[in-house]
Amino acid sequence: MPDLDRSELIENRINNGILGQWYPVAKSVEVRSISPLGIEVLGEKLVLWRGDNGKVHCIKDQCPHRGAPLSFGRLHEGHISCRYHGIVVSGEGVVVTVPAMKNCAFEGQKIVRAFEVQEIYDAIFIYMPSAENEKAPRMVLPKEFLSDSWSGFLCTAVWKTNYRYALDNLADPMHGSYLHAESFTLAYGTKEDLFKVDHTENGFIVSRTGQLGENFDWTEFEMHDGTMFCFLDIPYPKAAGPGGNMRIIGFVLPINENSCKVFFWRMREVSGIQRDCWRFLYRTELESKHWTVLEQDREILEAMSDDVRGNEKLYQHDVGVNRIRQTLLKQAKSNVDFELNIEGKS
Ligand code: FES
Ligand SMILES: [Fe+2]
Repeated sequence: MPDLDRSELIENRINNGILGQWYPVAKSVEVRSISPLGIEVLGEKLVLWRGDNGKVHCIKDQCPHRGAPLSFGRLHEGHISCRYHGIVVSGEGVVVTVPAMKNCAFEGQKIVRAFEVQEIYDAIFIYMPSAENEKAPRMVLPKEFLSDSWSGFLCTAVWKTNYRYALDNLADPMHGSYLHAESFTLAYGTKEDLFKVDHTENGFIVSRTGQLGENFDWTEFEMHDGTMFCFLDIPYPKAAGPGGNMRIIGFVLPINENSCKVFFWRMREVSGIQRDCWRFLYRTELESKHWTVLEQDREILEAMSDDVRGNEKLYQHDVGVNRIRQTLLKQAKSNVDFELNIEGKS
């Protein structure tokens, strides 16, 4: 395989999303036991539903008969049936019945691709296998998800832009002082600074050198085998109630080349009555303010042209942007080289 082909494959892989990762794909409340939900993940059409025991299933959204989307179908006894001619498929991708034909040979065969699913902290995660990791590694969760002393809300939004812009945005704390300068909390501190990137145990942290704890001053990315997420703190004034900083835990799902879905958990370290207070204040006061900020991100990223990446002039404060891009490049190379290696051997 000539070098150019390999680099094109790597670029395509980065652009479509890295394989061998767990991704959040929907809020728990979106997946129901009365009707299926069609979704798109890394350009693949998938269908989700909740079985009779509450367990969530995810299979390819394509009927094995003539390819109709199964997400148009209905749910029967925990399985999904195709709207077109009625084939019933289980959550494991096995054809349960073919009602239009007696003793059809498909029955009992596993001919639809199924995906591993986990439901965690109000979200449905699925594993997108890579050639090197067909089986899902154990998902490493943000430590706040595992602690009773943190309480949070999940907010999701579809942004019509490639997911790389959403990750770049998270790796670029400087934009907070400009794009969000008129917001509830992001007007504090200086508007000029230098940035640094430090290695952490499982990734890296990009932070300002001139101030910490005054504004959106740092973002930390954690990379584990099969999981990647980031977190950052937004200092809150006293008016925002107990709990100190608001911590945002972010995952970005590549939907396809042109759109992504952000999953942001807004968390505070609170317990007892402080927890109730935070939850009440969030719903009544803070949530709308946060949405205003998020909309500012969405609007500017959606307005950036898709080919701008080749025409940038990066400068010092883009060290985090550079670092996240290197991370994706390394992961994409690993995906592609393993595939090429398999092809070469076959
Ligand atoms: S296309 Fe689904 S049963 Fe025919
Ligand atoms: Fe932002």
